[in-house]
Amino acid sequence: MPELIADTGKLRERMNAVRRGNLSVGFVPTMGALHAGHAKLLEIARQENDFVVTSIFVNPLQFDRKEDLDAYPQTLEADLNVCDDCGVDLVFAPTVQALYPQEQLTFVEAPALAEYLCGRYRPGHFRGAATVVLKLFNIVQPDRAYFGEKDAQQLAIIRRMVQDLNVPVSVVPVATVREPDGLALSSRNKHLTPAQREIAPVLSLALRTAVDLIENGERSVAAIRERVLPLFAAYPEVRIEYFEVSDPDTLTPIEHISCSVLIAGAIFLGSTRLIDNISKRI
Ligand code: PAJ
Repeated sequence: MPELIADTGKLRERMNAVRRGNLSVGFVPTMGALHAGHAKLLEIARQENDFVVTSIFVNPLQFDRKEDLDAYPQTLEADLNVCDDCGVDLVFAPTVQALYPQEQLTFVEAPALAEYLCGRYRPGHFRGAATVVLKLFNIVQPDRAYFGEKDAQQLAIIRRMVQDLNVPVSVVPVATVREPDGLALSSRNKHLTPAQREIAPVLSLALRTAVDLIENGERSVAAIRERVLPLFAAYPEVRIEYFEVSDPDTLTPIEHISCSVLIAGAIFLGSTRLIDNISKRI
């Protein structure tokens, strides 16, 4: 079983000892409820580093809906088993009090990147996520940190934060892990009813349809939307939050495709929100 540390001071001491041993450190920040998507990040971190740390912390700062925070699954026992299977050396699982011992008055914000896609609908979410990630980077001080492409906007914001603030961590992207029917793995999938679960792959189908159109020479985003949006319309249960084609670095919306793009969508099935994206180079 991996070492489990909850105290920030103890973690720092332990990491100082690891670094004195000249070991390279890979870090995978998570909010727990670990699934095969997280496991992929852990496995890649295991391959590329001498010492692997993961954090399990449901970060209140990044939840814009209290119901969402309260409903977030907490499964530490099972998570430790996943970490064990993936060869994780150390799990950092602090309490809210340990990570936020006083009111947080300093934040990391990238407003120009948080303005689009999920950020438009989840005010404060990326500020909360970027702030906790920088705190965790400063506590763990890893050489490499692993983030899923599943959360493309988060990845873009963390990458930019590391560049803009000269954070000495190399950010490693990991491809999205999917179910055989295309649904991207997410801890939220367990909230889906069996009927909703059957419909859920429509999001990845829509993304792949957009990619097919681009591969067949379509360059107009309006034309792509016209072909893709009816896929969702077939299911009255689906509420589309957004379906966008964007610049993968600045996340600004694109109308005419002339270089690489990020195609991203968010839908609601009942009260469960699903996100997914695909990058397409041309
Ligand atoms: P969480 O949702 O637990 O995700 C932790 C990491 O796992 C993220 O980098 C996410 O992109 C990645 N991930 C989730 N599902 C994946 C999938 N199907 N395939 C590949 N990677 C996947 O993202 C967060 O936590 C938080 O915002 C955090 C960064 C920990 C800050 O609190």
